[in-house]
Parts: sequence; C-alpha cells; structure tokens
Amino acid sequence: MAYECILTDTRGPVGLITLNRPDALNALNKQLMDELTDALMKYEADDAIGAMVITGSSKAFAAGADIKEMQPKSYMDVYMEDFITANWETASKVRKPVIAAVAGYALGGGCELAMMCDFILAGENAKFGQPEINLGVIPGAGGTQRLTRFVGKSKAMEMVLTARMMDAEEAERSGLVSRIVPVDDLVEEAVSTATKIAELSRPSVMIAKESVNKAYETMLRDGIMFERRVFHSLFATEDQNEGMAAFAEKRKPAFKNR
Ligand code: CAA
Repeated sequence: MAYECILTDTRGPVGLITLNRPDALNALNKQLMDELTDALMKYEADDAIGAMVITGSSKAFAAGADIKEMQPKSYMDVYMEDFITANWETASKVRKPVIAAVAGYALGGGCELAMMCDFILAGENAKFGQPEINLGVIPGAGGTQRLTRFVGKSKAMEMVLTARMMDAEEAERSGLVSRIVPVDDLVEEAVSTATKIAELSRPSVMIAKESVNKAYETMLRDGIMFERRVFHSLFATEDQNEGMAAFAEKRKPAFKNR
C-alpha cells in the first residue's frame, strides 16, 4: 500500500509513523486511518521492530476526525460502516508498545488516538481536548471512557461538556501524559525511549504491556489475578533465566526473545 497521508520510517528497532496531512492539521480521514492501520500491522508483524512511535507535526498531532468527511453522513451511514470503531482502534490492539509523541493540537479523535497508545510524551506546546460537543456530537472513539480513566471524572466531564483544552503542564499533572519534552526534541526522545523498550526481552515487554492494560481495563481483583498468572508464565522463558543470571553475574543480559 502506498501512503499519502502518513510517512513511515524505520529507526533501528523502532517503527516511526508520522501523520501527514498538514493542510488539514492531520485531521483523521478514512484514508489516513486505513494507512495508519496498515503501517501498524506491518510493524506488528515485522520481527525486526520492537516498538512503535506515532507522531504528527509541531503544530498538530491531529485536530480530530475529519469533520468535512463526517458532515454528510447519516445515522444509517455511520451505523452500517461501524464508523470510528471499524479500524480506529488498531493502535490499542497491537501487542508491541506504541508511544504517542504529541506536539500541538490533539483534539477529538486526535486526543483519542493518543490515548489508545501505551503512553504519551507531550511537547511543551501540546493541547489536548474533546471539543466534539461544539459540533453537536460527542467523542466517538473512546474519549469519554479513556479520558475519564486518565484524568478522573471532574476534569473529563468539564472537558467533554465545555470543550476546554488542557495544556501540556495540566496534562502531565493530571496523568494524561507521562512527560513533557521540548518540541524540537520530542520525536528523538520518543524514538530513543522506544529503542530502550525494543532492546528488552520482547515477551516480557508484551506481557508487561498486557498487564498494565488489565489494570486499566478491568476491576482490581481480576487484574491482580491476571498479573500473577502471566508473571508465572514468564518463568517459562529463556529470557527470565538469562535476565536474572546476568544480574547475578553483573553483566548485560543477552535476550533471545524466547
Ligand atoms: N477536520 C477537517 N478539517 C480540519 C479539522 C478537522 N477536524 N481541523 C482543522 N481542519 C482544517 C481546517 O478546516 C482548515 O482547512 P482550510 O484551510 O481548508 O480552511 C485547516 O485545517 C487549518 O485549520 P484552521 O484554519 O481552523 O487552523 P487554526 O489554527 O485557526 O485552528 C483548531 C486550529 C483550533 C485546531 C481548529 O482547526 C479546530 O477547531 N479544528 C476542529 C477541532 C475539532 O472539532 N475536532 C473534533 C473533530 S470530531 C471528532 O474527532 C469525532 C471523534 O470523536 C472521532
């Protein structure tokens, strides 16, 4: 598939995906989401890739779903094509870690896409918001659910009901983003963080990701039981043996991803 709305680049063990519709502030239209899904699935299947980064421009990660594309749709259109859910959730479904590197606007579907990633690094100028209420709709790609879990009911409710944007500092304070990085360093910092992850034992990284997501997606007791079981399962890997032996022998582990 030739890409027109995204750019892809392999940086060592990291797949870097750049949303690239500058004239529309990276608004997420069908073509872009099809291309993003294709790129994520290719990196997911590529043994040389251990982690991925999704980023946009310094002005916009993405200013939301493409309003001009959505505007003529009827209820029957969005219902029959399962609009938004059809392939929008790929970033949350891949098993390898995905980092969102967000500078500028992450609004509506853009904020939702960032929240589908495993964590968000924010440029100092990042602005997060769910302004769909201004369009006579509501967030449709998980925003009401994920934002509430990230920042709590009060802030999420205010943002969803008033369209107020959150800047990078507030987003970090509220737990929406893991760290703030100068905009000029954002992509390099995200790639270097992803590289560190990609160099670790792949099964333990994938199971760690699955376990943190359990905390986020299930009730505590179920999550703790899940964690214990998958923790036990890692003792069936060679990497567990190697990682612990290397610690005891004061050397760097040589993980084999099995
Ligand atoms: N869809 C389609 N086009 C968009 C867009 C979007 N979400 N956001 C921006 N654009 C386009 C603008 O129409 C404009 O195009 P033209 O030059 O052809 O007019 C271009 O991008 C630049 O935008 P602005 O001139 O508006 O730039 P600005 O700097 O003045 O404002 C902004 C920036 C505040 C982000 C403003 O563009 C804006 O409010 N955008 C819409 C944000 C929004 O409502 N997002 C939610 C979409 S609905 C959704 O996402 C549903 C869901 O849950 C999945």
